[in-house]
Amino acid sequence: MKGLRIEAMLRAQRRGRHISFHTPGHKRRGDDITELSYSDCLYAPRGVLLAAEEDIAKILGAEKSFMLTDGSTSGVFSMLAAARAAGAASVAAPVCSHPSVLHACRAMGIGIVPIPQQVRFGIPRMPKIAEIAQALERADALLLTSPDYYGFFAPLKEARRLCDAQDKPLLVDGAHGSHLHFEPSVYGGTYADLWVDGVHKSLPALTQGAVVSAHAAYAAFLQDSVRLFRTTSPSYPILASVEKAVKYPRNRAIEVAARECRTACGAIDNDDWTKLVVPFGKEARRAAQTLEAHGVYPEFCDGQYLMFYLSPCTKARELNKLRKLLAGIPREAVPEDAPSGVIPMYWEEA
Ligand SMILES: Cc1ncc(COP(=O)(O)O)c(C=O)c1O
Repeated sequence: MKGLRIEAMLRAQRRGRHISFHTPGHKRRGDDITELSYSDCLYAPRGVLLAAEEDIAKILGAEKSFMLTDGSTSGVFSMLAAARAAGAASVAAPVCSHPSVLHACRAMGIGIVPIPQQVRFGIPRMPKIAEIAQALERADALLLTSPDYYGFFAPLKEARRLCDAQDKPLLVDGAHGSHLHFEPSVYGGTYADLWVDGVHKSLPALTQGAVVSAHAAYAAFLQDSVRLFRTTSPSYPILASVEKAVKYPRNRAIEVAARECRTACGAIDNDDWTKLVVPFGKEARRAAQTLEAHGVYPEFCDGQYLMFYLSPCTKARELNKLRKLLAGIPREAVPEDAPSGVIPMYWEEA
């Protein structure tokens, strides 16, 4: 892959003479360096990190993008703080939003107007646009998650229209959607004022690698707010992996294979090829154990479904193995009134 600025800088430093009288205390293990004269400074970047962030912004269609080594959580905090600084004292958000939304609102004194989500067949459904509109009437901003953990897209186009009509910002938590920058019609950044890309989840970044971005009207607010929530000791291996993940080429072959596998495995008919959600009903936990006995680990088992998280790095042969194993594992139907495994966990603290 061409044009990996941080990786090139790290490669060059590996070759040079370097006696460490700086952090980290291990005194040089590979690429785990700190902010030095040649490695730039994430808090106020002017060199290689600024250039990498500018490349990322261009790819994601943002005015400004900021690399994060503290997960999408710090991105959610940063974009809510930016919205708060721009005047939003309350935000409408679906009840199955990630806890980071609740925590950020609690920490910053932002009011939450909950948007109800119906649960059918054990899965929290995306709120309908009428429900979003009703909540937005009582809030200063809208935050939607797209896609969700089950691979469903939020109604972003309609949400954009609502926000424009009421002159309120749209925030998109794309912790599970960073691979969608290849498909602008469903990408959060196409519609949002502020958005997060969880590049460590659906693109090949190291764990905690993420990006938060803004279009022009909110870029200065975000530039300021991101500093409140980022570590001052960023991990260079993570930073290099974030740049690489955003520049990682599209893998159309695995996207096609994933869609075929979804049909062949009887997975739910969702929107996002990276989330293969297979219903097992009461057999779900036993199915997870059977798969683990074959060395196959899903992302989660919620008591009704197993979710298999794919990415451009998923190998076709591994997908085939999964397909064969799934064919031999017993299933039961998921009842329509099955409860969700996620709502109580996230929102009882609200
Ligand atoms: C929708 C959503 N938003 C935000 C986050 C936080 O991401 P991270 O774990 O990278 O901090 C998650 C984590 O699973 C998530 O599912």
